[in-house]
Amino acid sequence: MAEFHSKIKTIEWVDNFSKMVDQTLLPKSFEFVNITSGQQMYDAIKTMIVRGAPAIGVAGAHGVVLYAQELAKENLSCEDFVKKLLEKADYLITSRPTAVNLKWAVEKQKDLIKESNADIEGLVEKLKENGIKLENEDIAINKKIGDYGAEVVPKGATILTHCNAGALATVGYGTALGVVRSAFANDPTIQVFADETRPRQQGARITTLELTMDGIPTTLITDGMCSYFMKKGMIDMVVVGADRIAANGDSANKIGTYTVAIAAKYHNIPFYIAAPLSTIDTSIKTGDEIVIEERSHEEVTHINGDWICAKDVNVINPGFDVTPHELIAGIITEKGILRPDYNESIRKAFEM
Ligand code: MRU
Repeated sequence: MAEFHSKIKTIEWVDNFSKMVDQTLLPKSFEFVNITSGQQMYDAIKTMIVRGAPAIGVAGAHGVVLYAQELAKENLSCEDFVKKLLEKADYLITSRPTAVNLKWAVEKQKDLIKESNADIEGLVEKLKENGIKLENEDIAINKKIGDYGAEVVPKGATILTHCNAGALATVGYGTALGVVRSAFANDPTIQVFADETRPRQQGARITTLELTMDGIPTTLITDGMCSYFMKKGMIDMVVVGADRIAANGDSANKIGTYTVAIAAKYHNIPFYIAAPLSTIDTSIKTGDEIVIEERSHEEVTHINGDWICAKDVNVINPGFDVTPHELIAGIITEKGILRPDYNESIRKAFEM
């Protein structure tokens, strides 16, 4: 199937529910699931049916609409409706703690709830419209990120990426993989090396799927192999996504990203982050303030339901790490490529 990203929306509002690709099933089967209640949306985000920072942002916005639809059936006063809906919105934000896009999108819905003087029915309609607007904006933003990023991709480059910051991590097109798509449209000689990304294997299961569906040459490697290929001169640049970026440019992304960034620095390979401004959290000064999600130990101790280690071993499973800003050559956003000093360039980007 050509042009995967232009045919499929990872998440989309349809009539009175949210339709999304069930990413837990990839790559074995490609199925859509309809999320029809607020609690179902909370669970879909937590269990990673929907994943990737921008995609869970839109999921959060849809979740608020689902809760609004449910509460609208309860014959509440307008005041009680607003109070309960704001509580549900805050509950949705707790489904995953690291990616700030979730909070950002839910806060957008909360602002509407607080500011609106429409009746309950009118407010539900406004929240729905806003959810759809966020969907469409996401794709437009990613195309801009892709086009800015393509400018720094050398001709014939091999690009290393980690995890999945693609069409399936967003509504469509992708951030890091948006850069790949835009670069490939200009230069079909580029190729991608995709890290497997233990333990959830988003690189193997999702990145390789969407890139090969688009005909972009892709080589799968395991996480420990990146420095081997860098030393051999086989990687020209690294582009990854982000889940939360602090005001100084420190960037949280999938666990293992920091290791890739250190290896890239050692080998003089430029390491870029590609992310929308909604991933930048200017309320935190540095990456030390980013809450890192601790995930189930079973993700590490099991593969496909089978134990792969001693049963009484200790396990720790942080879902993300923070790459210090010193290792980042540029942050590719919809407002252009931000360069160090990031405190300064990030501040300016928000003023544009
Ligand atoms: O745990 P996940 O799969 O939600 O983590 C995803 C990532 O770390 C992505 O790189 C990040 O969200 C950016 S997606 C455009």
